[in-house]
Amino acid sequence: MATQVTVFGGTGYLGRDIVRHLAQAGTGRIRVAVRNPARAGATVGANRVEIIEADVRRPESVRRALEGSDGAVNAVSLYLPTRAVGFEDIHVTGAGNVAAAAREAGAALVHVSGVGSDAGSPQRYIRARGQGEQAVRAAHAGAVMVRPTVLFSARGGLVVQVLRVLRRTRVFPLFGYGETRLQPVHRSDVARAIVELLGRDDIDVCECGGPEVKPYRALVAQIASAAGLDLRPLPVPFPLWHAVALLAERLPGAPLTRDQVALMRADKIAADGLATLGIAPQALDTALQGLPASACS
Ligand SMILES: NC(=O)c1ccc[n+]([C@@H]2O[C@H](COP(=O)([O-])OP(=O)(O)OC[C@H]3O[C@@H](n4cnc5c(N)ncnc54)[C@H](OP(=O)(O)O)[C@@H]3O)[C@@H](O)[C@H]2O)c1
Repeated sequence: MATQVTVFGGTGYLGRDIVRHLAQAGTGRIRVAVRNPARAGATVGANRVEIIEADVRRPESVRRALEGSDGAVNAVSLYLPTRAVGFEDIHVTGAGNVAAAAREAGAALVHVSGVGSDAGSPQRYIRARGQGEQAVRAAHAGAVMVRPTVLFSARGGLVVQVLRVLRRTRVFPLFGYGETRLQPVHRSDVARAIVELLGRDDIDVCECGGPEVKPYRALVAQIASAAGLDLRPLPVPFPLWHAVALLAERLPGAPLTRDQVALMRADKIAADGLATLGIAPQALDTALQGLPASACS
């Protein structure tokens, strides 16, 4: 097991849980590499961690963050590109920087990507994730790729995304007929797998999915029912979503992007990576028990 682990993206939704699991596993030193140390304290403060400044786009800062570490996790994400920072900067160049520095430091590396990553995809986000995996593999042959499906927890991820829409609109606009099949996985199961994988050199790729595969429409119904909310689904064709996203991308904060729409077009089903690690994934229902709708406003 690694004695000092640097986590990039340790302030994020998945990253915070990775830090928690590292602490629970008794990792000697946990270092969280963040862009803004002043903001990071509150989000990772509950765990005994060292905060260090780093931006994956700056190789020098990445190298410093990895000094003395024998383990590294890259859980950095970018969902919304800007003029200043594009998908390639974070998911390809940044990922390559972390991998190269981890190899130089002699650290084991777990790189978090996503199910469906494809370097040949015409979609920018999916392509960048696939090219990122290639950049990581080229720089650090021993790196492990972790590819989760959509993440959930009782108060976050898919659950919150669905509740936000349900609480604001009388109808729930579905992506197409809501037939895209998803396999939501609890973020804690993925975080546990990542900690386990830091000590394994026999696994290259670990796809992480939950115990159930369901159409998006059924998942929305399940979350609405658990929150006691009325669901009125409205099928919306993908070309219309695409047009709406084109406009929404121009609004502040871009509430919807064409990349998000593209992600919802293809099924997200994982190979059985968690079972290989002896992890029995939690069902969505378990996280939904006792869910008050107001908890996720
Ligand atoms: N959420 C999901 O449902 C899901 C599903 C499948 C795969 N994944 C993958 O899981 C990973 C984590 O996703 P997430 O949802 O937890 O992301 P998130 O909550 O958006 O967190 C992103 C993290 O990346 C950090 N970051 C962004 N730009 C950075 C930069 N230039 N240098 C250093 N750090 C930077 C952020 O740090 P600061 O903002 O604090 O600086 C933050 O800690 C990603 O690879 C994502 O693709 C997520």
